[in-house]
Amino acid sequence: MKQIRIFDTTLRDGEQAPGCSMDLAEKIEIAQALERMKVDVIEAGFAIASQGDFISVQTIARTLKNCTVASLSRATVKDIDAAWEAVRDAKYPLIHTFLATSPTHMQYKLKMSEDEVLDAIAKMVAYARNLSPQVEFSAEDAMRSDPSFLAKAVDAAIRAGAQVINIPDTVGYATPAEMGEMIRYLKKSVENIDTVILSVHCHDDLGLAVANSLVAVMEGAGQVECTVNGIGERAGNAALEELVMAMHTRPDLYPVGCGIDTTRISPVSRLVYSILGVNAPINKAVVGQNAFAHEAGIHQHGVMANRATYEIMTPESIGLLQNRMVLGKHSGRHAVEERLSALGYTLEKEELDQLFTRFKELCDRKKTISDYDLEALAVHRLANVSDNTGYKLERFTVNSGNYVTSNAVMSLLHNGERLEEVAIGDGPIDAAFNAVDKLIPAPPHSLEDYNIQTISEGKDAQGEAMVKIRCGDRVITGRGLSTDVIEASILAYVNGMNKL
Ligand code: KIV
Ligand code: ZN
Repeated sequence: MKQIRIFDTTLRDGEQAPGCSMDLAEKIEIAQALERMKVDVIEAGFAIASQGDFISVQTIARTLKNCTVASLSRATVKDIDAAWEAVRDAKYPLIHTFLATSPTHMQYKLKMSEDEVLDAIAKMVAYARNLSPQVEFSAEDAMRSDPSFLAKAVDAAIRAGAQVINIPDTVGYATPAEMGEMIRYLKKSVENIDTVILSVHCHDDLGLAVANSLVAVMEGAGQVECTVNGIGERAGNAALEELVMAMHTRPDLYPVGCGIDTTRISPVSRLVYSILGVNAPINKAVVGQNAFAHEAGIHQHGVMANRATYEIMTPESIGLLQNRMVLGKHSGRHAVEERLSALGYTLEKEELDQLFTRFKELCDRKKTISDYDLEALAVHRLANVSDNTGYKLERFTVNSGNYVTSNAVMSLLHNGERLEEVAIGDGPIDAAFNAVDKLIPAPPHSLEDYNIQTISEGKDAQGEAMVKIRCGDRVITGRGLSTDVIEASILAYVNGMNKL
């Protein structure tokens, strides 16, 4: 059976979207989760974009051993050099270089003629190929390009040595029929196209990214580019979980395989949502809260008689956790470690020690610990990393009521020193955040978003708080976890301020 390469760009195209920036520890965690899910290629970033991007691509390249690690680069020597420096230590490095081929991009953005574009493709792909064993060329805005010019661009890239040719629908403009036609046209008109992997990269501006990618697969594309939860510029990219589960559920239409371990889909989706501090839309395909819920009586009746009546895939196939109450205060370190490993988290000894301490603290506040609780502790340990080296919440008191002005007394630890402040505010959260603001020096910023949700069920459930702090054109996400919602909120704010 033909195998489709899954090229994940959550850490590059996904991270590029507003409000989706991640720190190094978070990117490594996602990269490792993607590797465990068995994606074929991870685009770890855009090495030339910043020193931070370079370091994260390089660290991921040095960490992963089972999949290809790519860096994006424009078609310039400087970009390609940076991309190569960042990925060269990977077991399977790939330079992904791109140049636009649509009239709009060539005229207004690149200010280059068609001949200049063809010349740059030939030179830069050859340059990249001299450095890297694997080179992918993307014709940016391919789906708004003149097909015969696109064919020339693809031909130039193949002749220069690219092994993967990517056809992006950069602005999510194409329809499935057009995508099918374009792939058929390229297959027919470009000599040697069958010697390379033909790839598509679809954006979701018209909600057609997954459909367009699937049509391309039917027409012979060998790679699809996608992101977890479909995150990405504007309306996002094709969602990995939707593409994979469509191929998995409809082998009659897509007689292809892919290496993805589908049982990792739900945990990886939750990891990405949690790191970004957003909740899945409840009706999101495959990973939304309601994707497997049957509310209407007639549906419940059908599902009880036979699940196939209203379920085309099983919750188990995507690794959806049953909210099992598995651990409690008598559970030992080993039991916690084993359960974590079943959830896909293998922690270093020191990390495990810290997590176990938190687990024990949680057991004092909560009778039973579910898989979701444990997973939240594992995901939130990343927030603790930045807080350990920055400001750390020591204690707080908040007074609030409908006849008093809310006030907070806040005590943070920083470099072994205790810092204390008092502040008032419009409600307990505002007072607490104002007190934190008095303690942590930072450039001008504002709170753009704040929300809190429960991790598991019951009155003693853990609350996961998320803040988005805007500083100029940067939006920083902070996260906090506690059975006390005010504490979770303060932890999230301190976490965000530490990152800022
Ligand atoms: O959408 C796009 O065209 C891209 C390319 C750089 C591959 O992200
Ligand atoms: Zn893109």
